[in-house]
Amino acid sequence: MSDDSRPSPHDGPAAARTAAVIPAAGRGVRLGPGAPKALRALGGTPMLIHAVRAMAASRAVSLVVVVAPPDGAAEVKSLLDVHALPERTDFLVVPGGRSRQESVKLGLDALPPGHDIVLVHDAARPLVPVDTVDAVIEAVREGAPAVVPALPLADTVKQVEPAGTPGEPEPVVATPERALLRAVQTPQGFDRATLVRAHETVTGDVTDDAGMVEQLGLTVVAVPGHEEAFKITRPLDLVLAEAVLARRRLNDGF
Ligand code: CTP
Ligand code: MG
Repeated sequence: MSDDSRPSPHDGPAAARTAAVIPAAGRGVRLGPGAPKALRALGGTPMLIHAVRAMAASRAVSLVVVVAPPDGAAEVKSLLDVHALPERTDFLVVPGGRSRQESVKLGLDALPPGHDIVLVHDAARPLVPVDTVDAVIEAVREGAPAVVPALPLADTVKQVEPAGTPGEPEPVVATPERALLRAVQTPQGFDRATLVRAHETVTGDVTDDAGMVEQLGLTVVAVPGHEEAFKITRPLDLVLAEAVLARRRLNDGF
């Protein structure tokens, strides 16, 4: 584009008008018993702190809103106080709700004016690289009301008739063409007013915020995601995350 005045994620604080909402209020049932997932350690640091730093690593992000476990807001606040963030980044902590959707809504409600772009990023994706964050912001700045980072699938996907009982065989009803499918990650990026409207009007169950914008009839675009933006869901994901961190430490050492 020839418009040099258009802000880019690499601009300084004057152009910074992006806020990141981090839903971190889940229990992490699939990870097994223990502390709420976002508070569990990864390389000795709480997962949530990694996720906050991943957002704050983008020069465009000037505010991070953390949506804490309902009874854990004070603990999250003190964690953020002791773990350094870049000076340009402010943070807020609000207690979350019963569903992810409700938690994101509570985070949006807490956003002060002055941020026109909002990222929504799972605390459970602590290792997303800054280039992915910046690519999402850039696509919103270029005019997309909603942007998702997405990757092609490795596995073929089957649609089934779900069995009533877990473990029972399930009839396969269709095989969508894999080349047309993408697995989506976070941060998902939005024009703020669009995301607020989506959360006010869409009431059905959704698993991601961009899906709500689709239900408004607006176009959602996908930009390349990153394999390190994977979600920590089950115990094996923690093993992978520790390995990614160990590799980063090695690379930083040389
Ligand atoms: N989340 C949230 N509020 C909820 C439920 C989920 O803020 N009531 C957040 C989680 O903390 C997580 C993100 O949404 O960062 C993605 O959810 P998921 O990976 O499913 O995390 P959990 O719900 O904690 O895990 P599980 O479903 O295994 O209990
Ligand atoms: Mg969940």
